[in-house]
Amino acid sequence: MQKLKHLAIIMDGNGRWAQSRGEKRVEGHKVGVNVVREITTWCAQNAVTTLTLYAFSTENWKRPKYEVDFLMKMLKNYLDRELETYQKNNIRFFAIGDLDVFSSPLKEKILEVQEKTSSNTALNQVLALNYGARNEISRAILKNKQKILELNQSLEIERLIESSLDTQEFSDVDLLIRTGGEQRLSNFLLWQCSYAELFFTPTLWPDFGVSELEAIIQDFYTRHRRFGGL
Ligand code: IPE
Ligand code: IPE
Ligand code: MG
Repeated sequence: MQKLKHLAIIMDGNGRWAQSRGEKRVEGHKVGVNVVREITTWCAQNAVTTLTLYAFSTENWKRPKYEVDFLMKMLKNYLDRELETYQKNNIRFFAIGDLDVFSSPLKEKILEVQEKTSSNTALNQVLALNYGARNEISRAILKNKQKILELNQSLEIERLIESSLDTQEFSDVDLLIRTGGEQRLSNFLLWQCSYAELFFTPTLWPDFGVSELEAIIQDFYTRHRRFGGL
């Protein structure tokens, strides 16, 4: 198989998965973590360069405090436990999003895992945490507000913004998958998905797995990407 440069996934449907079993929504998040591990490990072994996973949006703070607190605790535990998976599979971990709002222990943990895995080369696993594309683009503009005033060409501004996005070291998204049946982007990687191929599956994230991912990637390779040309 050819190398897929950038796969992005909106991991949706955890809550509904749990509720359909008469369980609390957070039970779906717990099972969802296992799917994250399975998919990430497969990507590291099977020719994906960068895998970006939407884990928590800038809008997810609107959820009940119990669920938000649970997700924050789960994230910290995940990073504690997953360091071993990262090292064993030569995976580099990287976080995008506005990390400033997180508690100090969580921020430190994120930076620690980033640091410890920084020279791993089989896969970049990028977790989008307190991520919103509008927030990311606005922060990129803020970082460059003086420079932007000196530019006259929109293409120069495009380049400048692109080089200041959280994803600056990664290429544009090639394939975006959303599980859970909704057909929307929910403020995820709006800039980077300009020419992404989109794939929506009704499968809820806890039920997603490698065989469905393989089928979607096969479908991706049958598509004709024109990028505005012919
Ligand atoms: C996605 O699943 C995970 C997060 C947003 C953290 P949801 O929690 O949105 O699950 P549904 O969409 O309500 O079923
Ligand atoms: C998108 O899912 C965010 C994540 C998967 C982290 P949501 O469940 O928050 O999206 P909406 O509210 O259905 O658009
Ligand atoms: Mg959802």
